[in-house]
Amino acid sequence: MATPRQIADPKEMQREALAWRAAGKRIAFVPTMGFLHEGHAALLRDGRKRGDVLVLSIFVNPTQFGPHEDFDRYPRDLPRDLAIADKEGTDVVFLPTKDAMYPAGYSTYVDVGGVSEPLEGEKRPGHFRGVATIVSKLFTTVQPHAAIFGQKDWQQLAVIRRMTADLSLPVEIVGHPIVREPDGLALSSRNVYLSPAERARALGLSRGLGKAESLFASGERRAASLIAEATAEIAPDAGVVIEYVALVDPDTLRAVDPAPARALMALAVKVGKTRLIDNRVFTPAP
Ligand code: PAJ
Repeated sequence: MATPRQIADPKEMQREALAWRAAGKRIAFVPTMGFLHEGHAALLRDGRKRGDVLVLSIFVNPTQFGPHEDFDRYPRDLPRDLAIADKEGTDVVFLPTKDAMYPAGYSTYVDVGGVSEPLEGEKRPGHFRGVATIVSKLFTTVQPHAAIFGQKDWQQLAVIRRMTADLSLPVEIVGHPIVREPDGLALSSRNVYLSPAERARALGLSRGLGKAESLFASGERRAASLIAEATAEIAPDAGVVIEYVALVDPDTLRAVDPAPARALMALAVKVGKTRLIDNRVFTPAP
């Protein structure tokens, strides 16, 4: 089967990108950690429409994982990823090694204040520092005109937007809606960790968000009521531990109470050993 061109060397990737730019080509970019699913494929399709050249990166970035997280066992399947990349019309797959991105002596990190502090920032100290650092390095290497990120990681998208604005990076940041399974479960590379029983329990996340959204639509604005509605559906018990269910401003990620006209409910839950996140934006009915 034909596969897209693969580039491992960051210098070669950057040379290629600068040559495309010199030739007047528009570069669209989708950064990932691989083990691609339909959510990533949707980002690639979006990117395909936004550029003359479509670049996908696959790099499991060590600096965004905490010491007790799943870096070592993060799922990988390169042949499958390449087949998906090819099907979605990817021109180049950039797959650098850890040593190429973080050579000996590496000491520069990007710290985004404000939006990176609550929620995931509290639960995963250093996570967004790793994300902002690798994304800025990928931007310098791939030189994209547009980069596409999923709203599944809403706070990550907010951190990238803030960083891009603050560092005056000439990249258009595009947010893509969450892609879900037919039963509501948000697609995630980490869903493979779930046993069938855990997967059934994980459906409580999207159901909880749906219930809270209905309550919001009926006029409820008190944060505690909206959060309680979602929490009841998530059914915390021995196998399901809630890290947070929060009602926040979609742009600043700070808690709101009562909810304004537009509010984000964001949550992180551990189902067995697997940590899942999900979110939904509540807006008044049209
Ligand atoms: P990863 O988890 O592989 O996700 C890559 C991109 O796919 C992210 O922008 C993420 O939000 C998006 N995505 C994942 N699941 C999605 C879904 N169900 N619907 C829509 N989009 C979805 O996020 C990362 O990698 C890394 O932090 C990265 C940005 C690559 C930096 O290392």
